[in-house]
Amino acid sequence: MAAAAALPHRQEELLIELSGVSKEYDTGGSLVRAMREVDLAIAHGEFVAIVGTSGSGKSTMMNILGCLDRPTRGTYMLAGLDVGSRKGDSRAIVRNRVIGFIFQGFNLLSRTTALENVELPLQYRGVAARERRRRATAALEAVGLGARLDHTPNQLSGGQQQRVAIARALVTDPPLLLADEPTGNLDTRTSLEVLALLQALNRDRGITIVLVTHERDIAACASRVVTMRDGQIVSDVRQAQPMDAAAELAALPRAEDPAATPLRAGATAAAAAALSGGPVPFSAYPMMLLGEVLGEGIALAYIGLILELKVLSYLLAARIFGEVTKAWVGARWVRRTLGRPATSDQRIRLALGYTVTVSGGAVGLLLAAMVALPLPARATDGLWTSVLAAAANGPVVLAALVFVGIACLVLLRYLLLTTFNPRR
Ligand SMILES: Nc1ncnc2c1ncn2[C@@H]1O[C@H](COP(=O)(O)OP(=O)(O)OP(=O)(O)O)[C@@H](O)[C@H]1O
Ligand SMILES: [Mg+2]
Repeated sequence: MAAAAALPHRQEELLIELSGVSKEYDTGGSLVRAMREVDLAIAHGEFVAIVGTSGSGKSTMMNILGCLDRPTRGTYMLAGLDVGSRKGDSRAIVRNRVIGFIFQGFNLLSRTTALENVELPLQYRGVAARERRRRATAALEAVGLGARLDHTPNQLSGGQQQRVAIARALVTDPPLLLADEPTGNLDTRTSLEVLALLQALNRDRGITIVLVTHERDIAACASRVVTMRDGQIVSDVRQAQPMDAAAELAALPRAEDPAATPLRAGATAAAAAALSGGPVPFSAYPMMLLGEVLGEGIALAYIGLILELKVLSYLLAARIFGEVTKAWVGARWVRRTLGRPATSDQRIRLALGYTVTVSGGAVGLLLAAMVALPLPARATDGLWTSVLAAAANGPVVLAALVFVGIACLVLLRYLLLTTFNPRR
């Protein structure tokens, strides 16, 4: 009954294929070999449990399967694509399209209703509000929470919270669900409820499930159990008759307090990244600068050459035009790079990052030039003298004004990025 003979042979049936995958961490001199030359093939529709002692490499393998990390060596094919060798941004696109994640600590947004939590992945894809609501409601009904749409996580039991997390993972219809210790925070009954749900999803919808667990009872529900030790797969066993979680549940005596809520574990960095949309692509900054310079150039040419207007309105109009083109370029560029619209979190970071680094740098350079270079007397000199006087007389007031100015600029840029953020 060991595995090799029973592994799928036909290439096109494989959803996951790891070949000779190693993962090493360099921890200041000593090398941790978390995965060593692992070969693993998983076909569409399998339900695989990964077990093994603590530190055996289970989470490391899940991070690689989930495209959250890259192998040090070896290849990883997911749905026929070589994702191991892809760069971060295109890995993120594959991840968003193919994989649903379920975490031990649920990682729901706490002040947000079940419905809104489940809508979130659709929001990232720019699905329209009405359609979002329809699909999120259907996903919550599918996990048996149709009557809890407007509850926030602290108004739900642990098992119910994990079911909201499952609905969130399902709402984009991914062919693959990855779950790292999904029942680690739950009692026996609630674990079985979650397992029964996962088994039903696997059986009825053909969703492939890979689940890490420490508990033998949970692993017994899978159709295949892969055991890891010291970064290697030491056994791979198919279970002809997996335990039926729903039947086990029916046989359990009734719990006295089914609503007991376990402590929420802290959100993992990976989950937090997934919720916030991940890092903003660095290339967005130079692209926005280019957009700004082009926009200002066009405005200056138009106003100066065609309208023949004078200095002040000239500069102001060019600034406004530059802001608009920059936001337009930035929003489009992020959409192009990530394969989905920027999240609000990403738009805030982009507006703030650009203002502090690029704009801050430009103003700094300008001030340095005004101080260092013996410029001829010009219209700006009066302004410069007033700034120096203000700095001498009321440094706090000046600092407050600068701060408010920066905040307004960040807000304006965020609003413009939001305006130009593509719907999908
Ligand atoms: N970011 C990292 N840097 C250095 N070493 C790491 C890192 N992540 C994991 N490791 C090491 O790699 C090995 C495998 O860790 P991993 O988290 O995959 O184990 P695990 O099987 O999931 O254990 P557990 O179930 O207890 O969490 C361990 O020795 C761990 O200390
Ligand atoms: Mg782990």
